[in-house]
Amino acid sequence: MKTIALLPALLLLGACSTAQKETATTPPSLKDAFADSFLIGAALNTDCTNGLDPATDSLVSLHFNSIVAENCMKSEKINPSEGVYEWDDADNFVNYGTERGMKIIGHTLLWHSQLAPWFPLDSAGNNVTPDVMKQRIANHISTVMTRYKGKIHGWDVVNEAILEDGSYRKSPFYEILGEEFIPFAFSCAAAADPDAELYLNDYSMASPAKRETYLKIIADLKARGIRIDGIGMQGHMGMDYPDFAEFEKSIEEYGKAGVGVMITEWDMSALPTVNQGANVADTTAFNKLLNPYPDGLPEDIDREWNERMGRMMDMFMRHADVITRVTAWGTDDSKSWKNDWPMKGRTEYPLLFSRSLTPKPFLNKYLISSE
Ligand code: G3I
Repeated sequence: MKTIALLPALLLLGACSTAQKETATTPPSLKDAFADSFLIGAALNTDCTNGLDPATDSLVSLHFNSIVAENCMKSEKINPSEGVYEWDDADNFVNYGTERGMKIIGHTLLWHSQLAPWFPLDSAGNNVTPDVMKQRIANHISTVMTRYKGKIHGWDVVNEAILEDGSYRKSPFYEILGEEFIPFAFSCAAAADPDAELYLNDYSMASPAKRETYLKIIADLKARGIRIDGIGMQGHMGMDYPDFAEFEKSIEEYGKAGVGVMITEWDMSALPTVNQGANVADTTAFNKLLNPYPDGLPEDIDREWNERMGRMMDMFMRHADVITRVTAWGTDDSKSWKNDWPMKGRTEYPLLFSRSLTPKPFLNKYLISSE
């Protein structure tokens, strides 16, 4: 009888303590952990932003306060033929970030890769004249930026324009307009949305020659009164590159040049290095020896990977005065482009979250200290 009378009270107590436990165990988030330092972002694919991947949505909503479109804003996707724009995926991406109050990054306005085939060519298949190229660049930038005016925090205006030796990549933009294509693109972008930040974005940013050229471009834009707000240092890394000291020097030099620095596209391959950098065209045939951990990373490799990522994150924290954002190129390991590059079918482990959606160990010290 006593027991029965006590039961509702006990149940209530149980419910209370469960509720308390739930509140107390709300998982700490990366965006809280780095709130005083920089934005923390992730590249999203369309499964997530089109509502097809609720698990990734939960992870992204908890941990990130910035997102970038992994593919859906590239010219090949968004402007596949002259005058034709496919907005659906990009609209969903922008709405996704807007609804969650995130800083949305547009990627990318001008890139030689995934460039819509019509863009640099006339009807006979020859390169267009400089005047036509300027018209096409102006139309593309103005149309895309105007659609999302006021919603996009910053744009990768020009992507991967410089090679490791510091020379200009011989892209169609460069072949037709020479070095002037960069100032021209930034002028068009500044006119299209005066409130959006404007960035140059590239990989292999530890290269001293590349750094020198970007410093010259930044100085030139500033001297001509053309706005540039930041430089995106793509963080595609491996177990034996980049040179950490040179990477850090680049952060410092760009900071001194008076632009914001962003670590964009951060990931670190845990597999044997085949190609450094992130040139999507550098592919190779599948080789079993280069896919050594299809069933999970061995403990020692996992430890080494976490140690390297931890050292990198510590470096970013040391420069939080100039670093405005750190963005991972994907969410969990299963979502990385590196599973398919430089060969299809590798099992990679390059991102901040494992395939079971748990944060990698190197993040623990930040997550715990933010609890
Ligand atoms: O959407 C098509 C799909 O319809 C088709 O069935 C499938 C067949 O392969 O391909 C799909 O497109 C792929 C697309 O990713 C979406 O998954 C392309 O083949 C593939 O080439 C493309 O790769 C992207 C790559 O850029 C090239 O655009 C990667 O996901 C993306 O992570 C990668 O990102 C680049 C940055 O934009 C710039 N910096 C380097 C970085 C890594 O390469």
